[in-house]
Amino acid sequence: MQTLAQDLLQQNQHRPERLLAILHGVQDHHRYIPDAAMKQIAKGLNIPWTQVLAVVEFYNFYHTTPRGEYDILISDSITDRMLGNQAVIDRISQRLNVAPGKVRPDGQVSLDTTSCTGLCDQGPAALINGWAIPQMDDRVDQLCELIEQRRPMADWPAALFQVQDNIQRTGLLLDKTIDPGQAISQALTQGADAMLQAVDQSGLRGRGGAGFKTAMKWRFCREENTDQRYVLCNADEGEPGTFKDRVLLNRYAEQVFEGMTCAGLTIGASQGVLYLRGEYRFLLAALHDTLARRRAAGLLGDNIQGSGQAFDIEICLGAGAYICGEESALIESLEGKPGIPRNRPPYPVTHGYLGKPTVVNNVETFLAAAHIAAYGAEGFAALGTKQSKGTKILSVCGDCARPGIYEVPFGTSIAEVLKACGADNAAGAQIGGPSGTYIDQREFNRKLAFEDLATGGSFMVFNASRNVLDTVDNFTHFFNHESCGFCTPCRVGTALLRKQLEKIVSGHGSAGDVVELEALCQVIKQNSHCGLGQTAANPILSTLERYPELYQQQLKKISYEPGFDLDAALATARRMANRDDAGAHLAQIDEEH
Ligand SMILES: Cc1cc2nc3c(=O)[nH]c(=O)nc-3n(C[C@H](O)[C@H](O)[C@H](O)COP(=O)(O)O)c2cc1C
Ligand code: SF4
Repeated sequence: MQTLAQDLLQQNQHRPERLLAILHGVQDHHRYIPDAAMKQIAKGLNIPWTQVLAVVEFYNFYHTTPRGEYDILISDSITDRMLGNQAVIDRISQRLNVAPGKVRPDGQVSLDTTSCTGLCDQGPAALINGWAIPQMDDRVDQLCELIEQRRPMADWPAALFQVQDNIQRTGLLLDKTIDPGQAISQALTQGADAMLQAVDQSGLRGRGGAGFKTAMKWRFCREENTDQRYVLCNADEGEPGTFKDRVLLNRYAEQVFEGMTCAGLTIGASQGVLYLRGEYRFLLAALHDTLARRRAAGLLGDNIQGSGQAFDIEICLGAGAYICGEESALIESLEGKPGIPRNRPPYPVTHGYLGKPTVVNNVETFLAAAHIAAYGAEGFAALGTKQSKGTKILSVCGDCARPGIYEVPFGTSIAEVLKACGADNAAGAQIGGPSGTYIDQREFNRKLAFEDLATGGSFMVFNASRNVLDTVDNFTHFFNHESCGFCTPCRVGTALLRKQLEKIVSGHGSAGDVVELEALCQVIKQNSHCGLGQTAANPILSTLERYPELYQQQLKKISYEPGFDLDAALATARRMANRDDAGAHLAQIDEEH
């Protein structure tokens, strides 16, 4: 009899680059990846089984021991915390009698936290068996009942899974949408050279954060002498606080696919892949439907709009690893490997997916490219600033009355965004996610632009009641958790950062510890292999610069205290000796005495 693994291998044509899809099938069925399945998969793909094991161990959504029949993961971004995710965890834990981080002994339920799920505008959010559920605070009782009754998830009320788009402000791209095929026919009529020129004249720069010029990337790829090129859409959107790509793929998928197709026609690629973060699995079915519709309409396939040119798009579902948003890690992941960033150069434009020249762009970049193909470069280039043309789509969340999506021209000030979203008493804002910049009230006139505050879209608002150090602590944990472990400065450094920060925040640090913390930040920043490590210290560095007094207030008045609390560790010995007098304690030497 054919096993599940064999079925999945067959469905995925025994292609090693489909390993993630095969493992998703096994994980969904067994709630973990059994050794026997790993061995069968390795044999079927003709790769060592240790390679399969390495992939299973790398991604957060695969497991080597069974998860609960109902596997509950609570989103743990700072905004989920602000919206009360701890109370949700406590209530579920109590009601279902399951300890956080554990599988209940009968195997019916497991409970844990996960990095930001991209629902920061409607948290606290959860994933249950991989399916997103927003606003958990209102739903704990209902959900626990369904689990206690062992109701299959397919029978759960659809309203539980209803994710809102929360589009609060539209602009050039979201207002002036295009009909299916409109941009493609323009791209075909004007030809690849003119299309490239339009993208160049528009001034479009990548919306994933780094802001590389899109036309230049496309040109480099097009100029490579090769038999195959690829277009990859980066929908791994894992930066805490970012969720605009979720909305774009839910509401504007036609336009995103249209942009990918225009890119393919321009650079001479016949295959595209959308890499969708695992947390957005709920978008998958509708995206496949959209692709099928476009194929039927001749907008994808072997002969696009009768031009004789071919281009098609596949979707690959990620498996819970923030690092896979880094473009070379994304390519590794697409090839069915752990998402470890490659050495660069060579860059993907020359050596990318399957070793071929590859363009990787963000979802919003493709949306903008479709607009430029359909309507020309002028309208786009007329908006924004000198170095940042067009509009930026922001994901706004945190302490504001109207969280959601805002499309604003580049050059818009932070104060304007705060006003628009109803953040009346904002004390600070984190621009560009944890790897970005924390700014306070004194800087609210700064502008969103590559020449001032660059952002992939994350815009988190904090009012005066929030403790800045809690935010820094959450971000530092995030980087440590998401470090891929490949290079020592980041793997070890982010763990040390976390510990050192905890020591200070918990009131056990001295002035020397702050000096050491800052030195550690510099070591990680300067020696890490990729952007994750290079920016992991930003939350600490940017708050140390703005709020030294906050760190100062936490310090003990001692010259040095080891990270290990010896006195606390001797508590058991004291209990055994039945002593708790002053002589049984180790005293710290206070500088004032
Ligand atoms: C740790 C890390 C995570 C990233 N995550 C994303 C992401 O989720 N989405 C994205 O488009 N770019 C992300 N990037 C940037 C990509 O490496 C790449 O620059 C981008 O996809 C290029 O597209 P663009 O030119 O359209 O911006 C990330 C970079 C790093 C270092
Ligand atoms: S910097 Fe961190 S995430 Fe990047 S390669 Fe090194 S360990 Fe991996």
